[in-house]
Amino acid sequence: MRFGHFDDERREYVIERPDTPLPWINYLGCEDYFGLISNTAGGYSFYKDARLRRLTRYRYNNAPLDMGGRYVYLRDDDPQHARSRAWSPTWMPMRRSLDSYQCRHGMGYTIIKSQLDGIESQTCYFVPLGASLEIWELTLTNHRAKRADLSVFSAVEFCLWDANDDSTNFQRNYSTGEVEILDGVIYHKTEYRERRDHFAYFACSEPLAGFDTDREAFLGPYRGWDSPQVVEKGQAFNSVAHGWQPVGVHQVKVRLEPGEQKKIIFLLGYHENPRDDKFDPPGSQTINKRTVKGMIERYLKPDEVEKAFRALRAYWDDLLGRLTVSSPDVHTNRMVNIWNAYQVMITFNLSRSASYFESGIGRGIGFRDSNQDLLGFVHLVPGRARERILDLAATQLPSGGAYHQYQLLTKRGNNDVGSNFNDDPLWQVLSVSAYIKETGDWGILDEPVPYDNRPGSEEALYGHLQRSIQYTLDRLGPHGLPLIGRADWNDCLNLNCFSDSPGQSFQTTTNKEGRTAESVFIAGLFVLAAKEMAELARRYSESRTVKTKPAFELQPATFYREAARKLEEIVWSVGWDGKWFRRAYDDFGHVLGSQENDEGRIFIEPQGICVMAGLGLENGRAAQALDSVSEHLATPHGIVLQQPAFTRYYLHLGEISSYPPGYKENASIFCHTNPWIMIAETRVGRGARAHDYYLRTNPSAREELSDLHRCEPYVYAQMIAGRDAPTHGEAKNSWLTGAAAWNYVAITQWILGVRPTFDGLEVAPVVPPDWKGFEVERLFRGVRYRIRVERRGPGNGVRLEVDGKPISGNIIPLPKDGTTTVSVLVLLE
Ligand code: BGC
Ligand code: NOJ
Repeated sequence: MRFGHFDDERREYVIERPDTPLPWINYLGCEDYFGLISNTAGGYSFYKDARLRRLTRYRYNNAPLDMGGRYVYLRDDDPQHARSRAWSPTWMPMRRSLDSYQCRHGMGYTIIKSQLDGIESQTCYFVPLGASLEIWELTLTNHRAKRADLSVFSAVEFCLWDANDDSTNFQRNYSTGEVEILDGVIYHKTEYRERRDHFAYFACSEPLAGFDTDREAFLGPYRGWDSPQVVEKGQAFNSVAHGWQPVGVHQVKVRLEPGEQKKIIFLLGYHENPRDDKFDPPGSQTINKRTVKGMIERYLKPDEVEKAFRALRAYWDDLLGRLTVSSPDVHTNRMVNIWNAYQVMITFNLSRSASYFESGIGRGIGFRDSNQDLLGFVHLVPGRARERILDLAATQLPSGGAYHQYQLLTKRGNNDVGSNFNDDPLWQVLSVSAYIKETGDWGILDEPVPYDNRPGSEEALYGHLQRSIQYTLDRLGPHGLPLIGRADWNDCLNLNCFSDSPGQSFQTTTNKEGRTAESVFIAGLFVLAAKEMAELARRYSESRTVKTKPAFELQPATFYREAARKLEEIVWSVGWDGKWFRRAYDDFGHVLGSQENDEGRIFIEPQGICVMAGLGLENGRAAQALDSVSEHLATPHGIVLQQPAFTRYYLHLGEISSYPPGYKENASIFCHTNPWIMIAETRVGRGARAHDYYLRTNPSAREELSDLHRCEPYVYAQMIAGRDAPTHGEAKNSWLTGAAAWNYVAITQWILGVRPTFDGLEVAPVVPPDWKGFEVERLFRGVRYRIRVERRGPGNGVRLEVDGKPISGNIIPLPKDGTTTVSVLVLLE
């Protein structure tokens, strides 16, 4: 069953009823100011950091789930229209049934439209480029035969900035709230009197019939957002908040003749003042508003709003125009051209910080997460990818290890979570290599970057990569495999934790020395990264832009090749189980992910990563491991993490066994790892199977199952409940997940097979044999490649013609300077 439909032309998902199984959300903002918005206008806004600069309040895990947002209330002031006396045109929070409803989630904007008793309302929410504010453009139309007299109320609840403190420290917070109201603009200025130099403002384009800034005054005692007394009575109190809960409410009276339409603009924004010019007059406690006046005036003008909206659309046209595909499969086209690319950009912006499953308080920017996300967004925003690489590297430790997370606002490593997730540094090698392949920017390797942000510790980025590799080599265990540390990619495989105290964090508790437990997964990842490093090493010495001798010893390419070869040998001797790759050795030296185990006998991660690293391609074991995946792990809803699931808690395995079977790391379908298997399948040449797996978790392909899947049908979720779960097929944790980047990489680079290399764009499709062909258009190093693939035979062999001339091999040579487009014909044989 569906709850809406795709409008690919406009790049929108159109939700046709408000009561979706879960709030189906979208994101506003792509630079500094962000917001989450649900299909019923729930959500919140923040500046840069969802924890430290939260503008509006949101209560997670509420009942109903989605409460708190950007609400507009409409009230019929004509007493004859009793049926529609007051309602929420976005359905929530009043939940009065509407005559029609539609929500369009688009690229960086959301439009919610509805009608009740002849009054149509449409609100377009978006954040203009270059501004730290959001616009709500409300259009009201009177379809009645007679005049309508309406009151419009806008409503937000302010958060007192630090979202964590805001939801816990009431003994202080109930006394600190402060606002100012001037010329119809509501200013939220809690803590401005002391150390903050920023405030929020909420403005309206129309003269006000009233306002409220005190929540209790607006809602009335013992009432909620679903029945504000002010909306019921039709008159705001002009309340001024002193402590308690500051809100922003405007009341506007609107008279509409039959057929008449009216636009009202609301602005919610964030502004910072220079420290020494905070107050006006100086020495007072009144906000200096001169610095923000121009901004407010500008965006209250309808033509400016229109212009800003067009600019936003053009921004996304440009980004999404960088890689497009036209294939025989609609789900592939839609996800690659629109939603998957969009989701990749959202994860670039927010990592794992703020979604409807990530509270914005808990987690910062993950080191391994962002380095993997980068694989998906590097071609979209190469300049910003560069900056992200350098920011991440600056949180690396001199040991080569990394803080597991950092905060976006401070760009400092997060001490609460710390380090010792032993896979972390290796992802950096993959992201930097992907960045250089995409851009050809070898100069990045010479960029001086500090360790742990300590001034004076700077070393060329290349030195960081060397240490990343060395970090693994310095930490090998009894079998010669890499030690796992706190965890590897699977955060919940905590082999050194041994926690028996409820509530203790599995992420930060380590009760074992950590000198025994080893990871086959990290071994596979190491081989993959070390091979990349060997290529980087070879070319780096040739292409160095700074020719002075580096302060560190440069290891030759052979060093990395040799290291990869040795570890590969170890994997074959202690990491191969006969039919698949093993997963790990625990603190007792016992194997995990083997025929010997009763539970956790086979895991997906090492099968994917080892084959991606090239293991077993020559001796048939790669295909054998993948056949085992198909036999033991694949379900119609995707491939589960492991089998059999853990049926009870194992002290020596940690969080993985804390989850009920079929959920999260305990044998759910983790959408992040499925693309590794797709890529691996392409490495053994099985395009039909790779694409079949691709479709099993593809959100668009699951749209018809929306009542089971429950999350948004336009973006990936982190997990889908596995076959051991009573709710098999149900998704959770949508939006902020490594699934976005990896699925994008799997489909574009490995199945469609168009991938950047150091020397040019490579074309090596591994698509289903029944595909007659497809087209890809891709911007690469400033040149637009139009690639047409035609099937001539059933296999994966290719012959290329570039601008009409046959070339040898499958890498399109870099064209000479000044070339803008290149046409490529690819014959698949
Ligand atoms: C989750 C993991 C997550 C980890 C780190 C665990 O509870 O299951 O998916 O990576 O927490 O916050
Ligand atoms: C989510 C985390 O953000 C990611 O880093 C991790 O790899 C997966 N969970 C699996 O545990």
